[in-house]
Amino acid sequence: MTDIDTLEADLNREIAAAPDEAALETVRVAALGKKGSVSELMKTLGAMSAEERQANGPLLNGLKARIAEALSARRAELRDAAIEARLAAETVDVTLPVRPAPAERGRIHPISQVIDEIAAIFGDMGFAIAEGPDIETDYYNFTALNFPPGHPAREMHDTFFFNEKADGERMLLRTHTSPVQIRTMEAQKPPIRIVIPGKTYRQDSDATHTPMFHQLEGLVIDRTANIANMKWVLSEFCKAFFEVPSVNMRFRPSFFPFTEPSLEVDIQCDRSKPGEVRFGEGSDWMEILGCGMVHPNVLRFGGIDPDEYQGFAWGMGIDRIATLKYGMPDLRDYFDADVRWLSHYGFRPLDMPTLFGGLST
Ligand code: DAH
Repeated sequence: MTDIDTLEADLNREIAAAPDEAALETVRVAALGKKGSVSELMKTLGAMSAEERQANGPLLNGLKARIAEALSARRAELRDAAIEARLAAETVDVTLPVRPAPAERGRIHPISQVIDEIAAIFGDMGFAIAEGPDIETDYYNFTALNFPPGHPAREMHDTFFFNEKADGERMLLRTHTSPVQIRTMEAQKPPIRIVIPGKTYRQDSDATHTPMFHQLEGLVIDRTANIANMKWVLSEFCKAFFEVPSVNMRFRPSFFPFTEPSLEVDIQCDRSKPGEVRFGEGSDWMEILGCGMVHPNVLRFGGIDPDEYQGFAWGMGIDRIATLKYGMPDLRDYFDADVRWLSHYGFRPLDMPTLFGGLST
């Protein structure tokens, strides 16, 4: 049976040459599959005479068994080789330095930090945080804040308007956080004690102005809220925020449509050393916020009876007080998303500002 010997030799060569398990499977099907070469030979047994079958049966069965054996031996070999290759490729160099965890590398943006500091300070004084939409109606941004249509104070806001809607209304990007005063009065009865941090927008861009900036609004309404209370709240805030034992504040008369009287607040500072501002000392004054007693018309627009309730409000630039406290020279860098700037000026994520643990340490 030379053809059995040749076939066996051929198959053994193919089995030995199969580079992987898939190739080996092809060899197996071609030999032992339904129409495989060995299977076809086995089929010839049926047509043989009894003597021929007696002679050839053991030969063919032996062939089949040896090929099956060779296939499984080769399969085991290939499997071992594959595992070896994978182990070699996936080795880990345990001597490499460990990459710092995200909480170590990430940084909190100074604006977020300052908002957290503000929330900690006012939270301690019993204020809640309120928020409102960046896209506002003319009504909330102006009319309900006692800017009558056509009033020149509207022009001073350099407003970004959207295109007119079908009904002629033009939405806008809020120019201040004051609209949230009205939204809060509509939603809740006095006493009201809120601060409103948020994004605001005006068409303005230079080293000290960016088209998007942040404001902090404050609003207190109850039966007796007065200017003395307001001065105390603002001076407590400034001391806590700038982390100094005392600040001197100067209140100057001013004008805002939504407050009467209106005031602007300067804090005393020392700017004699270049690039450094110290509070609570010195002979300079720096303007930090606008404030006043809430105008009766604004209370009425908010659904509150001005004969029963009164209140005070203020608004200040968060980016500006962040600059004063942490000394970033150009406001535009705040919003450039440059990770080098952020890793220099940013704060560690797990150092939450608290009044007892320290705001900025
Ligand atoms: N909304 C004012 C602005 O953006 C700031 C302001 C001033 C807010 C006086 C107030 C306030 O609530 O009483 O210029």
